[in-house]
Amino acid sequence: MENDVLGRIAPNSTPVQADMISYQGVVPKVGDYVVVEGDETDLLGMISNVVRGALELARSDLLQANYYDTILEVVGSPSDWLKATIRMIGKLKSKKLAGLPRAPPPTGALVKRAPAELLRQIFAPPPDKEGIKLGNLLTREDVTIHLDPNELISRHLAILAVTGGGKSNSVAVILYEIIRMGGVAILFDVHSEYAGMTLDCPHCEIETIDPILDPNTLSVEELGKLMKITYDNAPKQFIYLKAAFRTAKELLIREKLGEYLDKAELRADRDDLLAGIHALVKLSLMKEKNNEDDPYLLKFSSNDRGSIESLLAKVDFIRTKYDRVLKPAAGEPVDHLNYGKLLIVDLGQLDSDLTDVVVGKTLYTILYRAKAKIIGRGYLDFPTPVLAVLEEAHTLIPSVEYTYTSQAASSIAKEGRKFGVGLCLVSQRPKRLNSDVLSQMVNKIILRVVEPDDQAYIRRATEFLSEEMISYLPSLNVGEAIVVGPMVKIPALVKVRFFKGKRGGESLKAYEMWREGLRKRLSATPDEYYSSIGD
Ligand SMILES: Nc1ncnc2c1ncn2[C@@H]1O[C@H](COP(=O)(O)OP(=O)(O)O)[C@@H](O)[C@H]1O
Ligand SMILES: [Mg+2]
Repeated sequence: MENDVLGRIAPNSTPVQADMISYQGVVPKVGDYVVVEGDETDLLGMISNVVRGALELARSDLLQANYYDTILEVVGSPSDWLKATIRMIGKLKSKKLAGLPRAPPPTGALVKRAPAELLRQIFAPPPDKEGIKLGNLLTREDVTIHLDPNELISRHLAILAVTGGGKSNSVAVILYEIIRMGGVAILFDVHSEYAGMTLDCPHCEIETIDPILDPNTLSVEELGKLMKITYDNAPKQFIYLKAAFRTAKELLIREKLGEYLDKAELRADRDDLLAGIHALVKLSLMKEKNNEDDPYLLKFSSNDRGSIESLLAKVDFIRTKYDRVLKPAAGEPVDHLNYGKLLIVDLGQLDSDLTDVVVGKTLYTILYRAKAKIIGRGYLDFPTPVLAVLEEAHTLIPSVEYTYTSQAASSIAKEGRKFGVGLCLVSQRPKRLNSDVLSQMVNKIILRVVEPDDQAYIRRATEFLSEEMISYLPSLNVGEAIVVGPMVKIPALVKVRFFKGKRGGESLKAYEMWREGLRKRLSATPDEYYSSIGD
């Protein structure tokens, strides 16, 4: 056990932080845990910084590089002392964490490396339960980090890092573990990155779906959003859209919508609400067909004709533009959720407006159904708790505007906990993410982050992160992360494990692909070659 002794506490310690002078030859590592002898109980701390120096060179007039040779001559080999800063984490009582320290550790107190057994206990899942195996402590390969799924769902999660830092790999590891437990998850795949992902466990299931929306389930605000019509930016158009929307719904219930589609010469399903709105707006403008007396058509003064013409153009435009996505009676993506299953919504082909409506709408639907289930208003079979993962979260929940997805995400951040809806936001531009929403993602996995602005932003949005830990973010390697929040109990520097299954979206192997392509080209006869690439 001798080599577990690291050093002794220096003067001026506080209940929050202390300096330790290392014994000769001991090199403490940033991120490692230590046990400090306190007055009554031992204290657990984490090394947050290490400084190295030599006693003989402490005089400032000797600290110039051009004197270095002289210095070496004078002092021979300088002493090599190390000073480590220790962040206090908590008191230890019978090998368990028991509250925050109230008194500073005494000067001269002995500091030991925390035993692996103690750390394994802290990072173990609760008794009789499983945890989400994320990886191991960076400084201890023999200590596995388990995340608590309850805390993950109820306090949400942000995964932040530069591109290539290891975010998507972390997502894959967490999703695998959740699905393996029988959990429910939906992943919004903005760049079709996870196409072809596999989960290797007997009951694990993955389904990838195209984002199909049933226009009949959309609210007037959601339809307006697709047409870029809101009460604020186009009040008249919005009011007429709302009137046409209400009337179309009524006609649908009375089974008379089809007549209007015929009159307007629109080809569509007879219960297609959006086509119905299109028909009503079109007919309202066609005075020559003697529609004036029809009570279902829009009444408007000649001043407003321009607004209604714009509305008509916009309805027409989105029906054409989104005809592969807006499908009546298509059902909703959330109908596909189930236990032990990952649902991937492939958003790769959509523009940003439609992505916003699909994601926002789906999140609202999840929250609505989860709520209904808890308060006894139906949807008893809706599978919960459910984790919703958003890649590229800064584009969907940006800091500059309040998108539909931002509204839905805020609602989940605030209320999700009660109803079993957890959110996981993934982003490489943290400072472009809505700060309110980000700070409600109390759990965080922060991998390599280089930009000072991003670092400062993360620091402001994170409770458990010290200034020194932030300064280590640029030096993390791929897959190395600072993990904070109630899902880990105490902050940890973690090596995330490598996802074993197939994920898709990994870095492109240009050299190998070119060599393989060339080999195929050279080994094929010209005819075979041209027929293989489709002539
Ligand atoms: N924990 C890890 N261990 C080993 N390699 C990793 C790890 N995380 C990521 N990688 C590798 O680094 C590359 C980028 O990782 P990825 O998760 O796609 O980054 P990001 O989503 O942050 O852009 C991948 O090709 C992957 O193979
Ligand atoms: Mg990624």
